[in-house]
Amino acid sequence: MKVTFKDVTLSYDGKKDTLKHLNFQIPDGTLVSLLGPSGGGKTTTLNLISGLLPATSGHIYFGDEDVTKKDALARKVGMVFQNYSLYPHLTVRDNIAFPLKMQKVKKAERYKRAEELAKLVHVDDQLDKKPGGLSGGQQQRVAIARALAKSPSLLLLDEPLSNLDARLRIEMRQEIRRIQQETGVTTIFVTHDQDEALHISDNIMVLAHGTIQQFSTPDVLYDRPANLFVAKFIGEPVINTLPAEALKADLVASVPASILAQAKTAGIRSEAIVPFDNGQGMVAKIHAGLKQARKYGRESTANLTYNGETLLSTEMAGLPADQQEGDFFLTKAGFFLFDDKGALIFGGDSHDE
Ligand SMILES: Nc1ncnc2c1ncn2[C@@H]1O[C@H](COP(=O)(O)OP(=O)(O)OP(=O)(O)O)[C@@H](O)[C@H]1O
Ligand SMILES: [Mg+2]
Repeated sequence: MKVTFKDVTLSYDGKKDTLKHLNFQIPDGTLVSLLGPSGGGKTTTLNLISGLLPATSGHIYFGDEDVTKKDALARKVGMVFQNYSLYPHLTVRDNIAFPLKMQKVKKAERYKRAEELAKLVHVDDQLDKKPGGLSGGQQQRVAIARALAKSPSLLLLDEPLSNLDARLRIEMRQEIRRIQQETGVTTIFVTHDQDEALHISDNIMVLAHGTIQQFSTPDVLYDRPANLFVAKFIGEPVINTLPAEALKADLVASVPASILAQAKTAGIRSEAIVPFDNGQGMVAKIHAGLKQARKYGRESTANLTYNGETLLSTEMAGLPADQQEGDFFLTKAGFFLFDDKGALIFGGDSHDE
């Protein structure tokens, strides 16, 4: 089901707008993550999609139908929350079949459907257990199966993995992707974990301060962040930022003067600072001090000191350990300039249409 927001605003208190003029479209059959810092408006947006919360103004469409005034039941969404919220006294079979029981589907039929869904989410060997006898990951699988029982218009998941340990989170995010692809159900997934969002989504909506900072594929978010907020929010290690002023003298040859005049902040990804000109399009040569750091497993990092700024590079592993300074290069990929409002004004060209 395609979801469209047209100029949707939400105010909890009638004074302050928590969500401001949201406009977006989620294509049918895709998995979209809502990603952003705490308090950014992710859950509020999800609740507007589900119908649990009415929009203060604007319109919401499912397909071509205006559902703005319809409640959650009428919108037929399936939801999974952080807390599994399974019925503790019911077996897995009865938990999954529960929404169908509410719809008065006959027992034989709803059990058949429950068993199919249990197979889909890989808990078909747990059907007779109660939730208390399941692991956290298994409980979340059951919750997903239950949300799918009514063949929902959308599957909405609000931080479904945050109660799980790190290893299980990774396994379960892959499972959510698999289940979404096998069923084809349009899925909207809330997380504040960028790694999670980057790994499973077709598209990511970055939400902060109640507005959409950027809504695009994981690759575009990383390679062409629309603004300084997204550049800093997406990427590990965090992008280097420094006043553009500190770099200007080294950029005059490669950046138009009109852009340099507007540039307030430079963003340089750690892999964009390299020790050799590898012929892949360099934006600057810089002379900098070098301090290589210890290796943790395969990772090795270096701190460069340049015009009073410290820059982190992950590309210096091949240099002699005792080298203290040198000429280094900034690759065009991973180099950005932002204006005084934080908007991108240079870089990310490879994704231009
Ligand atoms: N029921 C409510 N009444 C009033 N204000 C609320 C209510 N729910 C959320 N807010 C406020 O709306 C803003 C957005 O909250 P929301 O829960 O959507 O954020 P979030 O992105 O889901 O954050 P988190 O990552 O912490 O879950 C916050 O400033 C929050 O304090
Ligand atoms: Mg939330």
